[in-house]
Amino acid sequence: MKKIGILTGGGDCPGLNAVIRAVFRRAEQLGYKVIGIKDGWKGLMDLDYETLTRAQVSGIHLFGGTILGTSRTNPFKKEGGAELVAANMKKMGLYALIAVGGDDTLGVCDKLAKMGLNTVGVPKTIDNDLSATDVTFGYDTAVSIATECIDRLHTTAESHHRTLVVEIMGRHAGWITCAAGIAGGADMILVPEEPFNILEVCDILKKRAARGKRFNIVAVSEGASFSDAPGVEGSMVLQTAEKDAFGNVRLGGIANILANEIEQRLGFETRAVILGHLQRGGTPTAFDRILATRFGVKAVDCVHEGRFDVMVALHGTKIVPVPLEEAVGKTKTLDMDMYETAKIFFG
Ligand code: F6P
Repeated sequence: MKKIGILTGGGDCPGLNAVIRAVFRRAEQLGYKVIGIKDGWKGLMDLDYETLTRAQVSGIHLFGGTILGTSRTNPFKKEGGAELVAANMKKMGLYALIAVGGDDTLGVCDKLAKMGLNTVGVPKTIDNDLSATDVTFGYDTAVSIATECIDRLHTTAESHHRTLVVEIMGRHAGWITCAAGIAGGADMILVPEEPFNILEVCDILKKRAARGKRFNIVAVSEGASFSDAPGVEGSMVLQTAEKDAFGNVRLGGIANILANEIEQRLGFETRAVILGHLQRGGTPTAFDRILATRFGVKAVDCVHEGRFDVMVALHGTKIVPVPLEEAVGKTKTLDMDMYETAKIFFG
């Protein structure tokens, strides 16, 4: 029986377990064994894996996280790491490998394919910033969670006549912030794609106050930047200077700086709320469960048909394979037409 390995890498996101279950079920149907590799590329380097059983994957599509665990390990950052991965795939008797991840994980998947390994990628990220697919799974759940949070913030902001600045995930792309901001009726939405001028932000909030509105909700992406504020002009706000194995910095904290600026300049009582990892936890929406399931099934079909160095993608209503290199290395930033629509409701 041929063996297919599966791993989940990078930040977790709701829907990963649905992919694992779908890969198992389709593979079982086509006569493959599925090997679950632990903690992303780390498990493949450390030979940490197990043969999955039907009982292990039963019903897991309802749950967030990943039963396989994840890490941000990058084999190409370790001396001989890629060669070790190749040797271990052989040692484990893997015919093919399905890697579920974002830009970093799929970048490794593409490089391994170019080394002659049979790999297929499945796109995940709550940020929705991967190219070559209309959408990634996890995004819909994150938008739902952020929207619910904005709804909750509305009632308390209104009662206390406060300005609440809510910081939403999205390193380089404002998809979650813009979508949740529109859905939740935020009075201002700030995204990484368009550095903002603090004077303009305050002006809009001032005009809103002049119309008798005594509260504001400002939705800001963690990766958004000031175009003008002293000390932070044009740069993202970092939590630490440390970088992970893929060179990613840890963002967070822009809401605090922005809340302070608004309070100082307008005298409005202002608070900051950072949603953080709440947006990645918990049960996936029906949309994400369905998309993840369809991706998992298609990934196995690609293996069965011998189509490698591809990523499964959503194009319109169809799941199709696309070359991995089309997906990686190019951030899919926010659709600015969507942002223009959001702006109509500012203030
Ligand atoms: O890429 C997904 C993401 O959730 C980003 O939105 C966020 O900046 C980052 O991961 C957080 O990473 P970590 O889990 O390492 O804190």
